[in-house]
Amino acid sequence: MAKKILVAGGAGYIGSHVQKQLLEEGFDVLIYDNLSSGDKINILPDATFIEGDILDTASLNKAMSLDIDGVVHLAAKKAVGESMIHPEIYAENNIIGAINILNAMSKNNVKHIVFSSSAAVYGMPQYTPIDENHPINPINYYGYTKLAIEQNMAWYAKLGKLNYAALRYFNAVGYAADKSITGRERNPQNLMPIIMEVATGKREKFSIFGNDYNTPDGTCVRDYVHVTDLAKAHTTAMRKLMTGAESFALNLGTGKGTSVKEIVDATEKVIGKKLNYNYAPRRPGDPDLLTAKNDKAFEVLGWSPQYTDPEDIIRTVWNLEI
Ligand code: UFG
Repeated sequence: MAKKILVAGGAGYIGSHVQKQLLEEGFDVLIYDNLSSGDKINILPDATFIEGDILDTASLNKAMSLDIDGVVHLAAKKAVGESMIHPEIYAENNIIGAINILNAMSKNNVKHIVFSSSAAVYGMPQYTPIDENHPINPINYYGYTKLAIEQNMAWYAKLGKLNYAALRYFNAVGYAADKSITGRERNPQNLMPIIMEVATGKREKFSIFGNDYNTPDGTCVRDYVHVTDLAKAHTTAMRKLMTGAESFALNLGTGKGTSVKEIVDATEKVIGKKLNYNYAPRRPGDPDLLTAKNDKAFEVLGWSPQYTDPEDIIRTVWNLEI
């Protein structure tokens, strides 16, 4: 019988791609999402959908009682800046909500969880590329919420309740190449969707935050990893956990750095026109350079990213617009 996975946040940007990958690999998928930032349009016909909030423990427990074999948890707030102004929102959604999920799992004897973590747990890089042994020292509250849940999962694992995979994403970008996922993020805060809103005329212009960083062209360097590659890591991690593997935390990135200016130039090339932007002062808290060492993902999961060229990645986003 097919294994049934509850995907919390499965209507969101990364969650919907995880849903797609799970379905393609023969899992049954139950999406649990409150549609606060996710979009019904992202839910594929073969998935079952329950509209519910992870803060609503009665509803969550009911969903978890439906013969669930494993959980992928991506239902979280992710705007770094907002987390520093309204930590209470992040405490509630990202910490209390995630603990509710762990407890609903315990109650219903669900043993495996793949958790959407972030490179934000590392804080300011002390060296790059960042491996999993890099000190963990988040510099924003968002990153702290991810760390808090990693630590709680470690305790629940130690106490025999579950095994877990904490997947620390670097910069997630792109859309499924077959255009099956079409929901764009509302009020995006990240570079790529903001650029796309300018490319499509939805937004007049954007700013590059800082061109005086200690990088080759002065703009920040990040590790942009395609969402389909991320999705594959989730399904592989879930299979691994189901074999009874020890819990693990690992980085998901390409290992390759691309600057903001290079992303902008590559986008102009892909869309065939100039973008309207200016240079603005640095955004507080941005490190010069952030790239992943991804050897552990290969060792543990046999995972390596298929997409490594920014133009290929950007093309999967632009294809939705044309
Ligand atoms: N940037 C701009 N202009 C914009 C938006 C972003 O120049 O309008 C720049 C940023 O300054 C940064 C780069 O583009 O240098 C990427 O910024 P994003 O906001 O897209 O992503 P971040 O690297 O800041 O953050 C991402 C995730 C976080 C995660 C972090 C950890 O969004 O959730 O990576 O690696 F915590």
